[in-house]
Amino acid sequence: MANVFEVLRRDHDEVRHLLAEIEAGAPLVGVSESERLVVRKRQVDRLITEESKHEALEEEYFWPAVRELVSGGRELADKAIRQERRAKFLLEDLIGYDPSKLRYEEMLDCFIDEAREHFAFEEEQVWPELRLVLTPERAEELGTKIDRARRMAPTRPHPHTPPHPGLLKATSPFVGTADRIRDLVSGRGRH
Ligand SMILES: [Fe+2]
Ligand SMILES: [Fe+2]
Repeated sequence: MANVFEVLRRDHDEVRHLLAEIEAGAPLVGVSESERLVVRKRQVDRLITEESKHEALEEEYFWPAVRELVSGGRELADKAIRQERRAKFLLEDLIGYDPSKLRYEEMLDCFIDEAREHFAFEEEQVWPELRLVLTPERAEELGTKIDRARRMAPTRPHPHTPPHPGLLKATSPFVGTADRIRDLVSGRGRH
């Protein structure tokens, strides 16, 4: 069993690893330009999937706890959700964008910087506050809920869906299923 901080840390580590991989670039030696672009698109698809799941799970479970328990939690959650929403719009744009365009790489650079800033905000300004008020039992319970919901969490960003936890909880399994079907049909994430 992992508590909420361990579960979220695992996600952050995974996404940070993908960001570093993307920054390092797709292989250039011995591959054609079209092969390089396929690899690039796959790297970014994986990032979109992991980041979408992570932020959706936070919106459903983590931010409601911060709002409820942390003094000043509402402001912290509002700020983080604004950052997450911006990230979702960027990812949504990346899904349909041609990876051979310069703008694609510019959008990626922008996403990478903002994602790191967002994770640092959560880890340095939000987690310490929540640690002070969350009992070990509740931290475990929250971690378990997030881990359980991950299986059906959305794999696409959905920037137009209002980030209301109740709505997300009610619709997430359906959205998650629909995302997986779209991923399967489009070949996205098939690697
Ligand atoms: Fe977040
Ligand atoms: Fe996070």
